Amino acid sequence: MYELLNRLTQTFGVSGNEEPIRELIINEIKDKVDEIKTDALGNLIALKKGNADAQNHKKFMIAAHMDEIGVIATHIDDKGYIRFSNIGGVSPYTSIGQKVEFKNGITGVVSYEQKLDDIKNLKLSKMYIDIGTKSREETEKFVKIGDTACFCGSFVKQGDFAISKAMDNRAGCAVATEVINILSKTGTDNDIYFVFTVQEELGLRGAKTAAYQIMPDYAIAVDVTRTGDTPESHIMEVKLGEGPAIKIKDSSILCHPAVKSLLEAAAKRANIPYQYEILEGGGTDVGAIHTTGGGVPSGAVSIPTRYIHSPTEMISLKDLENAAKLVAEAVR
Ligand code: CO
Ligand code: ZN
Repeated sequence: MYELLNRLTQTFGVSGNEEPIRELIINEIKDKVDEIKTDALGNLIALKKGNADAQNHKKFMIAAHMDEIGVIATHIDDKGYIRFSNIGGVSPYTSIGQKVEFKNGITGVVSYEQKLDDIKNLKLSKMYIDIGTKSREETEKFVKIGDTACFCGSFVKQGDFAISKAMDNRAGCAVATEVINILSKTGTDNDIYFVFTVQEELGLRGAKTAAYQIMPDYAIAVDVTRTGDTPESHIMEVKLGEGPAIKIKDSSILCHPAVKSLLEAAAKRANIPYQYEILEGGGTDVGAIHTTGGGVPSGAVSIPTRYIHSPTEMISLKDLENAAKLVAEAVR
C-alpha cells in the first residue's frame, strides 16, 4: 500500500483545487468499480454494487476527503513577495522555512518579517512567500492572486513508519482504495459508495452534498486522528502502531452506537487490533453526513497520525493496512 500512499501524498490537491489528486484516484479505481462520477462540487463518487437480493441489503457510504491544507496568494508587493492566507488549519510556526508548491509547479519559501519583535506574535499576516523574483510584474508571470499552494514534504518510509505531507488525508484515500481492492476479490452483499470528498478542511463541505445525493443507510469516514503518545502531549488514548481507531466522539459527531458496534464486531471477527478514539478538537466528514436529510447513522475509522497539519505527518503502515481490512470486513 505504501507505493500508492507515496503517489497520493505527493500529488497536489489543496481544498477547492482537487483536480490533480482526483485524476490520480480515478485512474487507480475506475476499472474496479461499477459506476464512477464527479459531482457538481468535485466529489468523486464510485459505487461498488452488492447483491440486491441479499438478506439485509444496505447502502453504505465510505467518505475519505482528498483535499489537503495549503495557502492562497492574497497580495503581491512591489518587490515580488507574495502575501498569503490559509486554506484550512495552517499554523504560522510549522510554516516557517517550509517550501510550498503552486499547482503549476512553482516553488516558494515561506518566511516572516525580520522586524517582528517577539516570535510569539507571529501571524500568517506577518509572513510571505519568496519565489526568487524581483518585482510584482515578474512574480505575476508565475503566481496570481487566488492561486493556491500546498506544503512540500517528501515521502519517507522507515521501518513500519511513513512520513509525508498530506497524510491528512491521503492515508484515508489509500485505505478507501484498498477497500475497493479487497471487495473486488471478496465481493459484497451491500452497495458501497466510495466518496473521495472535497473541501473537508474548510468545514466538511463536499461530504454534505455527497451525502444528500446518496442518502446512505450508514456512513463511515476514514480520516487521520491525533495521538497522545509524544512527549508531554495532550491526554489522548490513541497511540501510533496500536491499530486503527474506532471513533467514539470528536467535535463534529458522537458516533452512532450501531456503527460503533458494527466496527467492533468486524475487528473481532477478522482479528484486527483496534483502539478507541475520542478527539477533543477537530472533526471529520461524518460530522456533516450524519445530520443530512432525515439523519444517517455514522461512525469513523481513524488512522493514528502524529504532527497533523505539518509537512511531516507520521503514520504506521500496519495501522493503514489494518484500517483497510477493518472497513472492508465491516461493510461487506
Ligand atoms: Co486536516
Ligand atoms: Zn483530515
